[in-house]
Amino acid sequence: MGRFDGKVALVTGAASGIGAATLALLRQEGASVVGADLAGAGDDIVRTDVTDADSVAQAVAATVERHGRLDVAVNCAGIFRFGRVEDLTLDEWHRHLAVNLTGPFLVSQAAIPHLVETKGSIVSVASIAGVKGQAYTSAYCASKGGLVLFTKSIALELAPRGVRVNCVCPGGVDTPLIVGAFASMPADADARLMTRMDSVLPGLVAPGEVAEAIAYLASDAARMVTGTTLLLDGGTQS
Ligand SMILES: NC(=O)c1ccc[n+]([C@@H]2O[C@H](COP(=O)([O-])OP(=O)(O)OC[C@H]3O[C@@H](n4cnc5c(N)ncnc54)[C@H](O)[C@@H]3O)[C@@H](O)[C@H]2O)c1
Repeated sequence: MGRFDGKVALVTGAASGIGAATLALLRQEGASVVGADLAGAGDDIVRTDVTDADSVAQAVAATVERHGRLDVAVNCAGIFRFGRVEDLTLDEWHRHLAVNLTGPFLVSQAAIPHLVETKGSIVSVASIAGVKGQAYTSAYCASKGGLVLFTKSIALELAPRGVRVNCVCPGGVDTPLIVGAFASMPADADARLMTRMDSVLPGLVAPGEVAEAIAYLASDAARMVTGTTLLLDGGTQS
């Protein structure tokens, strides 16, 4: 018996990294899962732009049409580039907020009517950068900090209707996103500031470890957990 037998999940950002690991884990544990990603292809992953309300509505509708219900919505799609605040273009600022914050808002809004029916849950992938300031990361920090408080706000609002809302806050995870992000680090970045991000435990978090945390928060074992930020930061905040 799997933890998600008979359940249906939608996972954004499912074509890569944490989203791909989450799709695989939920499916392995019995869920019917639809992925939604800009890089979507085939039946498994519906091509979706989380910044576009119509595109998100179509992904949610396709999930419910295909599987008859929706129990879990996972907001995993995200982008991240380093950059000095004075060098950040308005487009880069808007893009971080659109994908990392407006995306989860649109997915939640489209999913909520279905989640109310199933007493389901939303899990979003925020970041340690959503609970702690990080240099050269202002747009990303703003988007993820916004996502943490968006989560807490709607967790309160939806609790009376039986829908739980949580987020995970990983530190560095071994995915293509982090490789791309480090390539954008300012050449003369202050190394002293960057050590504030260092994990106490050695190494990076594995995508499957974040997927496990997401699965826990989406599962019945977390029946009394809502509005939480589960840190997977290697002790950065200790
Ligand atoms: N990798 C890390 O170190 C780390 C740390 C903390 C939080 N996170 C967060 O985890 C989430 C997943 O990141 P990852 O590391 O797996 O990255 P990734 O780059 O491997 O995957 C991100 C996915 O999001 C998709 N995506 C981007 N823009 C989209 C859009 N507009 N609509 C739909 N899909 C879109 C991409 O196509 C990609 O498949 C992100 O929200 C990221 O901010 C990552």
